[in-house]
Amino acid sequence: MSVLGIDRITYGVADVPACRRFFLDWGLRLVTESDTALDFEAMNGCEVRVRHMEDATLPPAFESGPTLREVIWGVESAADLERLRSALGRDAKWSEPEATLHATDPNGLAVAFRVTRKRPVEVTGVPINAWGVPGRGINRRSTVYQRAEPIEVGHVVFFTDRLADVERFYVERVGFRVSDRYPGRAVFLRCAETGGHHDLFLLQPPAPKRGLNHVAFTVRDIHEVFGGGMHISRCGWETEIGPGRHPISSAYFWYVKNPAGALAEYYSDEDQLDGNWEPQEFQQSPEAFAEWAVIGGIDGKSRRARSAP
Ligand SMILES: [Fe+2]
Repeated sequence: MSVLGIDRITYGVADVPACRRFFLDWGLRLVTESDTALDFEAMNGCEVRVRHMEDATLPPAFESGPTLREVIWGVESAADLERLRSALGRDAKWSEPEATLHATDPNGLAVAFRVTRKRPVEVTGVPINAWGVPGRGINRRSTVYQRAEPIEVGHVVFFTDRLADVERFYVERVGFRVSDRYPGRAVFLRCAETGGHHDLFLLQPPAPKRGLNHVAFTVRDIHEVFGGGMHISRCGWETEIGPGRHPISSAYFWYVKNPAGALAEYYSDEDQLDGNWEPQEFQQSPEAFAEWAVIGGIDGKSRRARSAP
C-alpha cells in the first residue's frame, strides 16, 4: 500500500475575489462559494479550497501572508489509513465525521490522510511523433489548447529549515520514496514506488526559511502547458518563469504568480519511475533547475495568440 497522491489542498488567502478570478482563469471548476470561502476542483475531483486567512477553522500557518494551510493525501483504503494511524501514533488525530487522519509535519504544515475522493478520468494527452517512435500515429494532427484544464494537483514544494527531519517524517512514517536529491539542500520525494518523479519537493535555502514555494497542476501534454500559460498571461496574471524544462524530472513547466500564495505551475511529461530507479545526487544550480526557460513567459498576445479568446 502507499499514498496515491494529493487529494485536497487548502489555501489561507488575503484577497478572496482575486483568488476566485485566478483559479477560474487557471482552469479549475468552482463548486461552491461564499464571500470568504471558495471550493474548486480539478478535472479528476482533486480539491482546491480557498479560505480567508483569518478563518478560525484553518490549521495554523507555517509562514505569514497567503499560503497553503493544509495538504490532504489520498490513500486507497481504510486499511491504509489504519497503517498510517499506527505509524503516526500519538502525533496524529482521527476525525470521525470526515474519516480523516490529521497530523502536522516537522515543517509546521498541517497534513492529513483520507481514502481518496478523486475520480478516475478518461483523458489522454496527445503523443508526439518522435524520430523512430511515431506516437501520435498516421494522419493525425496534434492539439492546440486555447487554455488549460488541469487534471489534478500533482506535487507541492516547500521551503524548510528542517530538511532531514521532514524527509524522515515522509519517508519513515508515511512511506514516501526518495527519487533524487541535492545533498543537504533539497530532496525529491514520490509517494509510491511506482509513479511520477515527485509528489513532494523539499528545499532548504541557505537563509533559514519555511513556507510554500509552489503548487503544481498536472496537464495533459506539452501543448497544454503552452496553451494554459499563454491564456493565463492574456488574463493579466504574471509569469515568474516559463515555459521551460526541468532536466531532473524531464518535465516541461510554466510558473505563474498566484494571489493565493507563492507560485502555481502547469507541468507535463515528468519521468515515470518504479522500484528499479536509482536516486541520483545533483549540485544545485540554475542549469539543474532548468535546461532552458523563458523569464517572464510568452506574452500570449503576440503573433497567432493575439486573436485567441
Ligand atoms: Fe514543480
